[in-house]
Amino acid sequence: KILILDFGSQVTQLIARRVREAHVYCEIHPCDVSDEFVRNFGAKGIILSGSHASVYEESTDHAPQAVFELGVPVLGICYGMQTMAHQLGGKVEAGHQREFGFAAVRARGHTKLLNGIQDFETEEGHGMLHVWMSHGDKVTELPPGFKLMASTESCPIAGMADEVRNFYAVQFHPEVTHTVQGAAMLQRFVLDICAASPDWIMGNYIEEAVAKIREQVGDEEVILGLSGGVDSSVAAALIHRAIGDQLTCVFVDHGLLRLNEGQMVMDMFAGRLHAKVVHVDASEQFLGKLTGVSDPEAKRKIIGREFVEVFQSEAAKLKQAKWLAQGTIYPDVIESGGAKTKKAVTIKSHHNVGGLPETLGLKLLEPLRDLFKDEVRELGVALGLPHDMVYRHPFPGPGLGVRILGEVKREYADLLRRADAIFIDELRAAGWYEKTSQAFTVFLPVKSVGVMGDGRTYEYVVALRAVETQDFMTAHWAELPHSLLGKVSNRIINEVRGINRVVYDISGKPPATIEWE
Ligand code: XMP
Repeated sequence: KILILDFGSQVTQLIARRVREAHVYCEIHPCDVSDEFVRNFGAKGIILSGSHASVYEESTDHAPQAVFELGVPVLGICYGMQTMAHQLGGKVEAGHQREFGFAAVRARGHTKLLNGIQDFETEEGHGMLHVWMSHGDKVTELPPGFKLMASTESCPIAGMADEVRNFYAVQFHPEVTHTVQGAAMLQRFVLDICAASPDWIMGNYIEEAVAKIREQVGDEEVILGLSGGVDSSVAAALIHRAIGDQLTCVFVDHGLLRLNEGQMVMDMFAGRLHAKVVHVDASEQFLGKLTGVSDPEAKRKIIGREFVEVFQSEAAKLKQAKWLAQGTIYPDVIESGGAKTKKAVTIKSHHNVGGLPETLGLKLLEPLRDLFKDEVRELGVALGLPHDMVYRHPFPGPGLGVRILGEVKREYADLLRRADAIFIDELRAAGWYEKTSQAFTVFLPVKSVGVMGDGRTYEYVVALRAVETQDFMTAHWAELPHSLLGKVSNRIINEVRGINRVVYDISGKPPATIEWE
């Protein structure tokens, strides 16, 4: 496995994802772990991440000295390169100018890391790479034993290597996709230079994960809040594979789910997998509590609180249960463990179905803690879950509660469910579902005038929303073909009595958010 030491860059997670894509297992740990930790980790290689700090000024972060004494290959990226240079006797100088964006790097000499990897050749025959740079400081003197590996006009030492000790460093960011050959470089490092084995494959991982769950749980019983979302579904399937009937899933229908969602979850888990699933229809209770409430944050809080209450009372009935299983995934773990969280303004308080309190007094079972989302999906497919279920768009915990603007009513939810099902159907049929990261329909509680046949109508409006995004932090509205939008609009207005107007949301995030509330 590979050890990634995090110096606080925004993109450290991407290093891990690229390494895992090469089927090599890796873990991210903070840069200030002890020498002992580094020695006992058993790394085949170590990667030092970037940072937003400077080696000399804002930060005193250094790599544990053991990193350079273990005898394993080390790759420094950006700040990781600077700290490597600094700690091994080179020189780093504060830059007067930040260099940020694309750069063409000349690969110098033949190093194991870059040999044969290039985007184009200059007329003089130099191998060149398109890379992404983001740094202020730079290395100005190589440490003893190092040779120059790459350079740009403004950054003469953009890469360095000590091939005897297998230390490599680059000033640019190979982990981001803007660096065209970045994945190839990281692969070269972990597979060829570190000789890590590419055995991190989800199909093989099942056996290991199943054994681990059995060992952890023994003959005790486990409960799990099944939402129908990807993470809880894959967690349920994996745990069921491990311990069968010792697992009870609790599926809470809060009345704000998509069309036929309840049926689909029951068919899959109770029907096909023969898992124990308690289906709780709590829609009366949820909708009752939401009556008269129109503030988005208030609605979220009510839904979150009711969910915990319903789940708790179900859990209390399962007296033998000692474990609470959750679909926590690796990015959640990194985020909550990272000491470097910034203080941000709360735009929306995310109430996730699944964020259950510790007051349940149960031990936590989180079998997906080591996995990225793509890996969770791969695992789901390997466990036999249907492709469509595993590759679904995310669905917010409060469900249609935040897609019905203002006060939530059962009538609105019923109309919205049917309209949304038509939209998603047509997106899938046109091959646009996979091209968008999230798509849904929003119910607007305003009426407008229309004409149908010879009569006047006065009915509700829905908005269609479809976005393209990688990280859900920023998003572009999807440029769906007009013919597709037209078809969806026609079908909704013809098939869903009560809606006579359909509009398309063309706002980006920022300034709009993806959901309307
Ligand atoms: P926004 O609307 O903030 O959404 O641009 C970003 C992503 O988060 C999802 N979202 C939620 N997920 N509980 C959730 O579990 C919530 O309260 C919630 N609000 C927004 C949203 O669907 C999108 O994927």
